[in-house]
Amino acid sequence: MKTIIEPFRIKSVEPIRMTTAGERAVLLGRANHNLFALASEDVIIDLLTDSGTSAMSAQQWAAIMRGDESYAGSPSFARFEAAVRHLMPFRHIIPTHQGRAAEAILFHLIGAPGRKIPSNTHFDTTRGNIEATGAEAHDLVIPEGRDPQALHPFKGNMDLARLEAFLAEHGDAVPCVMITVTNNAGGGQPVSLENIRATAAIAHAHGKKFIIDGCRFAENAWFIKTREPGQRARSVTDIVRDMFADADGMTMSAKKDAFANIGGWLALNDDALAERARTRLIQTEGFPTYGGLAGRDLDAIAQGLSEIVDEDYLAYRIRTNAYIGERLQALGIPVVQPSGGHAVFVDARAWLAHIPPLAYPGQALACALYLHGGVRACEIGTVMFGRAPDGSETPAAMDLVRLAMPRRVYTQSHADYVVETFAEIAARKHTLRGYRITWEPAAMRHFTAHFAPLGA
Ligand code: F0G
Repeated sequence: MKTIIEPFRIKSVEPIRMTTAGERAVLLGRANHNLFALASEDVIIDLLTDSGTSAMSAQQWAAIMRGDESYAGSPSFARFEAAVRHLMPFRHIIPTHQGRAAEAILFHLIGAPGRKIPSNTHFDTTRGNIEATGAEAHDLVIPEGRDPQALHPFKGNMDLARLEAFLAEHGDAVPCVMITVTNNAGGGQPVSLENIRATAAIAHAHGKKFIIDGCRFAENAWFIKTREPGQRARSVTDIVRDMFADADGMTMSAKKDAFANIGGWLALNDDALAERARTRLIQTEGFPTYGGLAGRDLDAIAQGLSEIVDEDYLAYRIRTNAYIGERLQALGIPVVQPSGGHAVFVDARAWLAHIPPLAYPGQALACALYLHGGVRACEIGTVMFGRAPDGSETPAAMDLVRLAMPRRVYTQSHADYVVETFAEIAARKHTLRGYRITWEPAAMRHFTAHFAPLGA
């Protein structure tokens, strides 16, 4: 059969409240044109993030009931630890309440003023946790990874020549080399197994630890299976094990590729570093057999990890975004090529060329998606990155809008509805106007800033 169907039946549903365009105009005005300020009940299709928004399976809900809430030595922890180690054979697995908590602990231990941490591209919270220690975060993705239209099967790859040069020049200042799979900030683009191994080899040749941000590890493994020569016949589980075999540790948000609504972990092989991490964990998260989580969350993650490597699920998952990406392109809408694992990224600057970057074309498109279809997406551009710490404002490298797909939540007719919303906007895109910011906080303005449409 050529139709790739949702490989699940629906046993429990959440109603969607339908709204009219008139209602949405009022609601968006009340939210000061900031989509983060909307009540989620007022959104028809919510593509703000794929993080923590997965639908859990019947088996995960059953696992929730099995959860044991003992302070120390809970069997839920034993099941969680075994499930992680089945895929990622690290010596120490330290549960945290989400991914950024794992990053905060790691960089509290290995970050410091003057230190430099290279990666393909650091996610914002990783960068934030590195910079909070006074260290610097450096992004060394291959040049194709910065070009929205470049076609490359592994646009998340590390630029190995730049990494070599970076370590030759700054080696003494580097505590570890990181890689993010998939590369979220670069469009959800995968990293090849060959590139992961080569990055590990370079890090180790310079005596550095190699740490993987593994948030979307299963989606990355599916891309390896389907795109990397010689991998097609291998199981996703085997590929995942290979991805982590040369790593010295990982940070993880279980809100992505573990189908959980909360959770994460830090894994390490170094006994001394792990002991210091556990001490910090007790100070900031909790006892090492629960971290920042309830026992029931640990069980939901353990079960989720056994489901995420299912190849029928991954085929459907990756196809969903490719399908939306192809249909948007057929409408003449520029999208980051090829579609990523968890999201489709629309190039709003290219599509709404009549709106200059400092009038926020990504914000204009995100607001139009809500007004026309009740679809909530996320601006990743000048609103998010345009304000420098010195107060100056400059256009971000790109003005993108991310359509992030929650896992197992929406069906193909929801995807068709999103595409139809774009078609409606395409018919009147020249009438879309830019925005100005009428109020913003001192930092991370995209979450709370107030906007007004230009010319209103
Ligand atoms: N690393 C990557 C690559 C991420 O995408 C995220 C979160 C984190 C780390 C932090 O994990 O949220 O559990 O603390 N990304 C979400 C997103 C927020 O919408 O892309 P967390």
